[in-house]
Amino acid sequence: MTAPQAAPSHPATVVILDFGAQYAQLIARRVREASAFSVILPHDTPWEAIAQYEPSALILTGGPESTLTVDAPAVDERIWAAQLPIFGICYGMQLMARDLGGRLVASAHREYGPAMLHLQNESPLFIDVQNDSRVWMSHGDTVEKPPPGFVALASTERCAVAAIADAKRRFYGVQFHPEVVHSEYGAQMLQNFLRHIAQIAADWQMETFVETAVAQIREQIGDGKVLCALSGGVDSAVAATLVARAIGDRLTCIFVDNGLLREGEAESVLAAFRDVLHLNVVHVDARARFLERLAGISDPEEKRIRIGHEFIAIFDEEAAKLTGVDFLVQGTLYPDVIESKTAGSKAGHKIKSHHNVGGLPANMRLRLVEPLRTLFKDEVREVGRVLGLPEHIVARQPFPGPGLAVRVLGPVDETRLATLRAADAIVTAEIEAAELSPRPWQYFAVLTPVRTVGVMGDGRTYADVIAVRAITSEDGMTADWARLPHALLEKISLRIVNEVAGVNRVVYDITSKPPATVEWE
Ligand code: XMP
Repeated sequence: MTAPQAAPSHPATVVILDFGAQYAQLIARRVREASAFSVILPHDTPWEAIAQYEPSALILTGGPESTLTVDAPAVDERIWAAQLPIFGICYGMQLMARDLGGRLVASAHREYGPAMLHLQNESPLFIDVQNDSRVWMSHGDTVEKPPPGFVALASTERCAVAAIADAKRRFYGVQFHPEVVHSEYGAQMLQNFLRHIAQIAADWQMETFVETAVAQIREQIGDGKVLCALSGGVDSAVAATLVARAIGDRLTCIFVDNGLLREGEAESVLAAFRDVLHLNVVHVDARARFLERLAGISDPEEKRIRIGHEFIAIFDEEAAKLTGVDFLVQGTLYPDVIESKTAGSKAGHKIKSHHNVGGLPANMRLRLVEPLRTLFKDEVREVGRVLGLPEHIVARQPFPGPGLAVRVLGPVDETRLATLRAADAIVTAEIEAAELSPRPWQYFAVLTPVRTVGVMGDGRTYADVIAVRAITSEDGMTADWARLPHALLEKISLRIVNEVAGVNRVVYDITSKPPATVEWE
C-alpha cells in the first residue's frame, strides 16, 4: 500500500467517470459524505481533462450497457497506467475486468435486487464490513475470470465473482451497488476505498469550502460590481451571502415581491437579509403588476410563462437603474451542471443551463458568478449554516418559482390567494408542531377550483375545497405521499374549515410522483 499523498493545495478530488448510471449523483454524494470532494465527468473524458483535476482516485460508475457489445462505452485507457487507485462499480468493474484482460460472460437474465455478500478474501475494502451482509445487485453480465494480478474477493449465490482487487495497483471492483442504502455496508466500503486504499484524508469541510469560495469570488470579481436576484430560497440566499462576504456592499440584491409568496414570507425574507445579514437589498413591490398579468388566466403553462416574463422585465428595469454592474450571481447547484449523464456521451456535451429565480435573462451580458456550482443541496444548507443564515431560510422547503400561482388552481386573484395563504399557514404550522420524524420533505395546501355543498350550523354552504399535499422525497424527482397520522389530518381539516372563510371541505392527496407531480399545476 502506498504512503498518503502530500497535502495538495485543493481538497483531494475523486473523479467519478459516469457511464450513464442511474446512481452517479448518489456516488458523488456518498463520497462527499465521507468528507472527500468529488466531481462527475462523462466516461469518455480524455485523460488530459481528467488529469486537470489532479484526482486522488477514480470511481467508474455502473451503466445500462454491456461491455461485451462492439461499441460499449469505454474510458480513455490511459487511466489504467496513471497509478491512481480505481474503484469500479458494476459496469465499472466489468470494464476494468475487460480492459485488463479478464473474462466476462453475458447472463441470460439480469440479476436485480438484494443478495448476500459472502467475503472470501481479506481486504481493506472490507474493514468493518460484516460477512454475509445484504448488497444490492443490478446487472446482466458478470466477470467469469478476474484479470491477471487480480483476486476474487467475494461472491453471492448467483454471482461467483462479486468483488475483485489488484491490491498492488489499488484497483478494486464490485458487481453490486455500494452507493444505494439497500447495500448494508455499501457506504462503509466506499469509505474504506477512500480512506484505506486511496489514503484520502477527510478534509472536505464546509468551513474550508467557504474560505476557498470567498477567495475565488474576490479573484473573479476584482473591483467589479455584482447583482443578485433573491428569491427567498436557500440557493440564492447562500450564494448572495457568500458573495457579500467576499466583496461587501459592492453586491446589490434585488428582491421582487410578486405577491405569490406564503404568509409573512416576504417580510421575513427581507428582515433576514437586511437586518441579520446586512445585505444591500432593493425591495421591489410588484404585487399589483403580477396580479394584473395573471388576471383571468387559468392555464398552468400560461401562468408560468407570464410570471417568468414579468420577473425578467422587472429585474431588467431594476438592473438598468444601477450603474457599472458587471456580474450576476446565480445559485446554480451541482446537479444542474453535471454534464451529460447518458451512456455513449461525448465529452463536451452541452451543459444543462438552469436559472434559479424564475429564469433570469440569459442575454443580460453580465458575467455569471456561480459560487455553489460544485455543491449538492444539502451541502448548500450546510454552507448557509456556516455563514450564519437563519434556520428558517437554511431549512426552507422547496418552493416553486411561480409561487402560490400554481397552487391556486384556475384564475388567481387576491381573495383566492388570501384563502390559500390562510389554509397553507395552518397546514405548515400543524405539520411542524407534530414534530414528525422524519418530517415530510414538502407540505402545503392547494386551493382547488371545485366548490362543494356542506352544512355549517344549520345552513347549507357551497364553498371551496382545499387539498393538502405532503410528500416524502429525496430530491423532488420522485415522491411518495406522506403517511400523516390521522389525528394530525383531522386537526388540519378541522382548523381549516373553522378558521378559513369560504372553505367547507378538506381532502388529502394520496398520489405519488409519478404518476402525479408534486405541484398540482
Ligand atoms: P413537480 O411539481 O414538478 O415539482 O413534481 C418537483 C419539485 O420542484 C418544485 N417546483 C419548482 N421549483 N420552479 C422551481 O424552482 C418551478 O417552476 C417549480 N415547479 C415545481 C416543486 O415544489 C417540487 O419541490
